[in-house]
Amino acid sequence: MLTEPTTVAALPGPRGLPLLGNLPAFARGGTPHKALYRWRERYGPTYRMRLPGTTAVVTSEPAVVEAVFRERPGVFRRGRFVSDLIDELGGYGLFSAEGDDWRRLRRIGTRGLTGASLRASFGTVAASAARLRDRWRAAADTGERVDVLDDLTRYTLEVVTGVTMGHDLGAGGDGGLHRHLTLVFAALRRRLNSPLPYWRFVRLPADRRVDAAVAEARRVILERYGEARRRMAEGGTPGDFLTALARADLDGDDPLSASDVVGSVLTMIVAGQESTAAATAWAVHYLATHPDVQARVRAEAAEVLGPDGTPGDASALTRLRLAGAVVDEALRLRPPSPFVIMEPLADTTVGGLRVGKGTPIFVLQAYGSATDADRYPEPGEFRPDRQLGHATPGQQPYLPFGSGPRVCPGRNLALMEATLLVAMVCQAFTMEPDTSAGPVGERETFALFPTNLAVRLSAA
Ligand code: HEM
Repeated sequence: MLTEPTTVAALPGPRGLPLLGNLPAFARGGTPHKALYRWRERYGPTYRMRLPGTTAVVTSEPAVVEAVFRERPGVFRRGRFVSDLIDELGGYGLFSAEGDDWRRLRRIGTRGLTGASLRASFGTVAASAARLRDRWRAAADTGERVDVLDDLTRYTLEVVTGVTMGHDLGAGGDGGLHRHLTLVFAALRRRLNSPLPYWRFVRLPADRRVDAAVAEARRVILERYGEARRRMAEGGTPGDFLTALARADLDGDDPLSASDVVGSVLTMIVAGQESTAAATAWAVHYLATHPDVQARVRAEAAEVLGPDGTPGDASALTRLRLAGAVVDEALRLRPPSPFVIMEPLADTTVGGLRVGKGTPIFVLQAYGSATDADRYPEPGEFRPDRQLGHATPGQQPYLPFGSGPRVCPGRNLALMEATLLVAMVCQAFTMEPDTSAGPVGERETFALFPTNLAVRLSAA
């Protein structure tokens, strides 16, 4: 905690260039969190960073992090930069909403991701994981190199679409949704890394294709919602996010507009797919480079999942303890969201720092767990055993999913997807890293992804 009330201008921070400030150093190499971590080492837990037209605060100070996460939606809001980009792509929903609208969408959005709905999602997750394993069997037979991130991105898209829309992408008949969403994700990634928001002034052919993809995705979602509503009106039981929305709408609990429905579904898909793909890919990376851990996860999976590797129900997850610890440790070392951007709705003081309305605050919520040598001896090492019996991920100071009222509502689904996949894949294959195209690197867009991550598989 800062001892004296201080201002942002008085904080230490890196020198920058005229006009551009620290933006070039921040954006260099597509890994902004590395610059933020480096400056954290140099300037301490709370420092300032100059960006074009504004000065931002960067903090990893536990008391400030906690206060900023907790005081929402009243005092702090999500930073406008990412929210605006998502809204422009038709995804206005839980992630970007604020105030009373956020309260309403949070109530709607968490249906389908908790309790009985989450347990009901287990079948969708297990079926998608089995499909991926079967695809990889063919690669193991031919010795083909597997592009891990590509396949896991398909896996998590299949799951999140299935969970939100009861929609079996793997079995086809998706009305082109997968293709449309892939275009939307590519646009989001491009715009996140674009130095200028040119699309607000001029529409290039690529932007027009994205507009068309958004319109098509909207059409498919509303068509599905119409079907879900009819099924619920005939007395059906909600089994996925869309039918849960339809039920609430019909009961008059939460009347929904067409934009609410489209925005809620797109938000879940955008927020749920990339981060989970990144987290699972990092877990596979660590397993491929730690054959001893891989062998232990294989033995655990054989015991819990049985000889055919088919999980019975969600209770299997609680017994996949080492697989879960592998995912937790991968999240600690490579958090898909190394920072969250927030801003105060009015001038305020937090942890002794006076911050003006709209000042971007970069919260390095995962810095502590990635570097704290007291809690995590040799913190840079992958040691899943230290996660066994550890506090639940998402608790202070281990915050890969954020914290407070806006903590990630999809965290249990994400952990289910990653843990089950890790166990099923380890049971079926021996994985070895394939660096023939170069070493594994990292790149941050909506999530922190591994680059160049490939493995070679052989039947276990
Ligand atoms: C490993 C995977 C994931 C990670 C690391 C992750 C991380 C995060 C983080 C850091 C936040 C911001 C929390 C905050 O502001 O305090 C967030 C919010 C959110 N996440 Fe996730 N997430 C993951 C998976 C998912 C999944 C699977 C879904 C849905 C299917 C999802 C839906 C959301 C939504 C809707 C929000 C906004 C919540 C709000 O503002 O109220 N996430 N997530």
